[in-house]
Amino acid sequence: MTQLPHNEVICVLDFGSQYAQLIARRVREAGAFSVLVRPDISLEELAAYKPKGVILSGGPSSVYDDGAPRCDERLFEIGVPILGICYGMQIACQLLDCEIKPAHSREYGRAQLEVADDSDLLKGIPENTTVWMSHGDQVAAVHNELIPLASTSTCPFAAVRHAERPFYGVQFHPEVTHTPHGIDILHNFLYSVCGCTDTWRMSDFMEMQVTRVRELVGDDHVICGLSGGVDSSVVAALLARAIGKQLTCIFVDNGLLRKNEQQLVETTFRDHFDIDLRVVDAAADFLADLKDITDPQEKRTRIGHRFIEVFKQAATDIPNAKYLAQGTLYPDVIESGHGYSGAAANIKLHHNVGGLPEQLGFDLIEPLRDLFKDEVRRLGEVLGLPENLVWRHPFPGPGLAVRVTGEITEERLRILRDADEIVLEELTANHLYRSTSQVFAVLLAGVQSVGVMGDGRTYEYVAAIRAVETQDFMTADWARIPYDVLATMSSRIINEVRGINRVVYDISSKPPATIEWE
Ligand code: XMP
Repeated sequence: MTQLPHNEVICVLDFGSQYAQLIARRVREAGAFSVLVRPDISLEELAAYKPKGVILSGGPSSVYDDGAPRCDERLFEIGVPILGICYGMQIACQLLDCEIKPAHSREYGRAQLEVADDSDLLKGIPENTTVWMSHGDQVAAVHNELIPLASTSTCPFAAVRHAERPFYGVQFHPEVTHTPHGIDILHNFLYSVCGCTDTWRMSDFMEMQVTRVRELVGDDHVICGLSGGVDSSVVAALLARAIGKQLTCIFVDNGLLRKNEQQLVETTFRDHFDIDLRVVDAAADFLADLKDITDPQEKRTRIGHRFIEVFKQAATDIPNAKYLAQGTLYPDVIESGHGYSGAAANIKLHHNVGGLPEQLGFDLIEPLRDLFKDEVRRLGEVLGLPENLVWRHPFPGPGLAVRVTGEITEERLRILRDADEIVLEELTANHLYRSTSQVFAVLLAGVQSVGVMGDGRTYEYVAAIRAVETQDFMTADWARIPYDVLATMSSRIINEVRGINRVVYDISSKPPATIEWE
């Protein structure tokens, strides 16, 4: 195992909860470094991290299920404080010979916690406070060794401490925002119980990954596909720092990019970072594939296939490449059900995971696998990426192809690019870029509408402005952009973009609409 460059590590055993990464992230936010590890990690491997403390995450299983994830039975020999959360509490209590009661029904939602002992883990927590519960089983009979610290009306052992060992358990989820004092409880665990000292910073994560990448890559060469988005940009900047000229980035111009996109990538990576950047102009091939195609999924499929072809070809020009670096984030990993424990429920097959590497035969490097989007942006800042890249709104892989409804032509792409540029210019000028999550123009190319311009009648395209606010892009609300900003966007588009005579504002939330129109 790579030596971690930091001596205050909290190991989080991931029993498959959707919240496992959230725990790791809360720990880092609180100023201690955390790593997510497999639940069945051996005591020796765990000890090699020299952790200051161990957290056992929740999980969807019951401790009674066949094949439920288990931990090393010698876990308590680790000798540092352990906090079990939900399933993690139950599995630890089972190791301590407590009785776990199978539930008649799941308890899900907010509950009122009554604190009985606020001497350490619950220090400073109000006597009555709200906590978030999501469990089936719970700890039932507790022998003298376990001291109850708090209860709810249905859960007598909502928080416990061991009489002699440094073990704490909570049945609720302190890591979620629905537990308002959850952060304080985690803070108590880290600082009062484990003795951490608040010294971890994102720059440590960067150094750790740089060391890891160097060790892994050795003298080999790495390829990284740059898309112009935040994730691949951060991966490229990180790898450039780690291995310099052993990295080659490939940027594919698929003809479906926004205005100045290629230029931004070139200036940033070639000029500022001195990266070996290869720009492949494949626009003609992509547009030929899309000729006469109107079905959105067919557009996506054709673009995906062509991308793999083009990328493969570009990669063969870099003969000694062994690795492919990808900007996979933790939410991509859990959404695809490939979490550390393999136990996270499979929610949505994500387009960023799988596919490309298998087809190319490279080994994968995914240095952002443990991070959430906001952490990736912070890492980007630490790496010195420009602000306009670090805070960029997401842009879909199939690009403008899914923003021109109906058939794609060069003329339609030109019109959309011009309209989109105006929308983004006005958004930025009115300081709304950072407060919105994704904003863009759509060309409703199947619809033409009548207008008047001077003395003449026009019959031109309609553009829609789409602006959303969202945390996770799974659900979203339409952004309340002020009317006067919308008015400027609209009049500028109609006056400055040839081919559009009407602008509409999309006021649909997701669900039932999606963020993109196609
Ligand atoms: P929807 O339209 O599904 O979009 O609400 C959610 C988020 O995903 C992006 N998106 C894509 N990204 N390939 C991508 O790389 C795609 O095919 C794709 N479709 C949607 C969309 O821009 C939004 O951020």
